[in-house]
Amino acid sequence: MALDFPVTPNPQPASDERIAEIHSKPGFGVNFTDHMATAQWTKADGWRDGKIEPYAPFQIQPGNAVLHYAQTVFEGMKAYRWADGSIWSFRPDENARRLNRSAARLMLPAVDEADFLRAVDEVVALDARWVPDGEGEKSLYIRPFLFADENYLGVRAAQTVKFAVILSPVEPYFENGVKPVKIYVTADSARAGIGGTGYAKCGGNYAASYLATQEAYDADCDQVLFIEPSSKDRLEELGGMNIMIVENGRIVTPALTGTILDGITRKSVLQVAKDMGIETEERRITPDELYSGLESGQIQEAFSCGTAAVITPVESFRTKDAVYEVPQPAGELTLALRERLVDIQYGRAEDAHGWMHRIV
Ligand SMILES: Cc1ncc(COP(=O)(O)O)c(C=O)c1O
Repeated sequence: MALDFPVTPNPQPASDERIAEIHSKPGFGVNFTDHMATAQWTKADGWRDGKIEPYAPFQIQPGNAVLHYAQTVFEGMKAYRWADGSIWSFRPDENARRLNRSAARLMLPAVDEADFLRAVDEVVALDARWVPDGEGEKSLYIRPFLFADENYLGVRAAQTVKFAVILSPVEPYFENGVKPVKIYVTADSARAGIGGTGYAKCGGNYAASYLATQEAYDADCDQVLFIEPSSKDRLEELGGMNIMIVENGRIVTPALTGTILDGITRKSVLQVAKDMGIETEERRITPDELYSGLESGQIQEAFSCGTAAVITPVESFRTKDAVYEVPQPAGELTLALRERLVDIQYGRAEDAHGWMHRIV
């Protein structure tokens, strides 16, 4: 049965002045809008009780399973305001499908794709004044998520689960936009292992990446790049983004092996590159290929990509022992791909693949 999301309006919505103040310096995931969408699943009755209500704390018992066993998955997507004031999301059906792939891995119930899209569209439309204009690539970050919502410490999948969609005005994750970042490379720890949850967007993968991310910060880097630690023979991804290199004019990115996230930006960049006549390869990239390619100049550019980070150029890769500079950080191909993708998202370039979905 399709879910509806009847609205209980927030009796104390933020003032226009407060929203303008937040839009002037949104940061990332710091401020939340007036409303959220929620629904509740039980094993006996399936999904029920869809609603849009004021953004407010959940009532969580200390024994709630999610606090102990991290049975939770999420999505990350954005609403973009075009110059004519209309509001659009980017490939939301891909997020709906990926949420369900993640849910299946974590033994959480699937959300019907149409219900997912309706929840997102209706809460974004209600909080439309929170969508910043596109200046500085600002947008409204959309965070749909599912979590075990059962007061039970037994180790088994929860029998009651909550779905929610919350919204936060943001600027690109790396504050300086196209300013190249430094990447710390490690094979000492993994965010997810073979047969594990790497392809799922689940909370535990992120908690598992924090130690290595701290090592990156300690080494004066902005993010960590994981090398698969048992074989040490392939690049995986960053803590929260996919990685791409430009090698002899081709875009090369690690193949989807089950241990990395099937990024929607990754997929879109590969398509945009093909559309622009640039060759692409999805395959294993060994650390040696990366380091020797950077030294010889066969690898000219590198960038990370994801919804939060858009496309961020890489300036250097650091290991414990060495620093490998990228010959052309923010090079021609990186910037051309970035511009094309961002122009599609903000309605300034033709949407040849029908990726944009109008919300308002
Ligand atoms: C671990 C990880 N890899 C890659 C990505 C990129 O995925 P997407 O392009 O769908 O945002 C993300 C999310 O942004 C992520 O958290």
